[in-house]
Amino acid sequence: IEKGWLANHLHQYQGFWYFTRQLQGVLSCQKHFNNSLNSDILIVTTPKSGTTWLKALTFALLNRHKYPKMFENHPLLTKNPHFLVPFLELDLYNDKDLVPDLNSIPSPRLFSTHLPYVSLPKSVIDSNCKILYLCRNPKDTFISLWHFTNKLKLDGTSTNSLEDSFKKFCNGVSICGPFWEHVLGYWKESLDQPKKIMLMRYEEMKKNPSFVLKELARFVGCPFSKEEEDEGVIDDILKLCSFKILSNLEVNKKGKLSSGEEHRAFFRLGEVGDSNNYLTAEMIEQLDIITEKKLGHYGFRF
Ligand code: A3P
Repeated sequence: IEKGWLANHLHQYQGFWYFTRQLQGVLSCQKHFNNSLNSDILIVTTPKSGTTWLKALTFALLNRHKYPKMFENHPLLTKNPHFLVPFLELDLYNDKDLVPDLNSIPSPRLFSTHLPYVSLPKSVIDSNCKILYLCRNPKDTFISLWHFTNKLKLDGTSTNSLEDSFKKFCNGVSICGPFWEHVLGYWKESLDQPKKIMLMRYEEMKKNPSFVLKELARFVGCPFSKEEEDEGVIDDILKLCSFKILSNLEVNKKGKLSSGEEHRAFFRLGEVGDSNNYLTAEMIEQLDIITEKKLGHYGFRF
């Protein structure tokens, strides 16, 4: 790797790339998160594949009986989804000297992580917790990531050119990359452990959100009743968690995460196919070839 924030800030660990603060959290949660419960629900994603959206949806789904009036006093109206569903390595275990006490959190505890399967804490592997894995086609993921890292200016200085970032992404050098190995790890495990791991695609969520939400509800053990369906609960959750509503909330327009990232950086466009406006035909072809080679071979397609 040459110059730039990737060189200064990315470290390879167990085959995947992390920026410094994140790696400290990864090591800490691998060491200290040793009490994963069977009732835990863990949202796992590759960065920029719709984590914020899935956090909002899962939170709203699990808490729907607590907040039946979804547009009046719901926590999602005043709190960013990342605050409501913390990342293990970025939020809960971000201080290597301070181990959080997670025992008092009521069940089901809802956490998230960007960790690849090979690096999950042992207790997560050993428990019967539920893993919701969300991924997104690499073209849109890459463009979303490129915008995000430039906005955050992780090196505090320059903007990364699209061409440089693209080359690195294709070579596997991106936050929590290689992208394809991340997806492959969970894809294989989801086939072996279908009761534990549900694999979702951003594109499918955009196309048929109510179908995916119903599947999700069934998977985590709280399916919608017929009455709820008739009363429009599914539509309400989808509306509350929609890009339009979330991105226009005051908290998400102005607020910041404790780690400093602005909430609005997590809401850019929220569409499928925006990469076509940035990538050349050659770049698209290159990503398609890598994807087919690395994932198509195993029966996975976006
Ligand atoms: P774009 O940059 O393509 O717009 P993550 O949450 O994993 O960081 O992913 C961020 C991506 O999800 C961004 O994609 C963002 O706009 C999109 N996103 C955020 N909230 C969304 C929502 N409620 N519905 C659909 N997409 C959403």
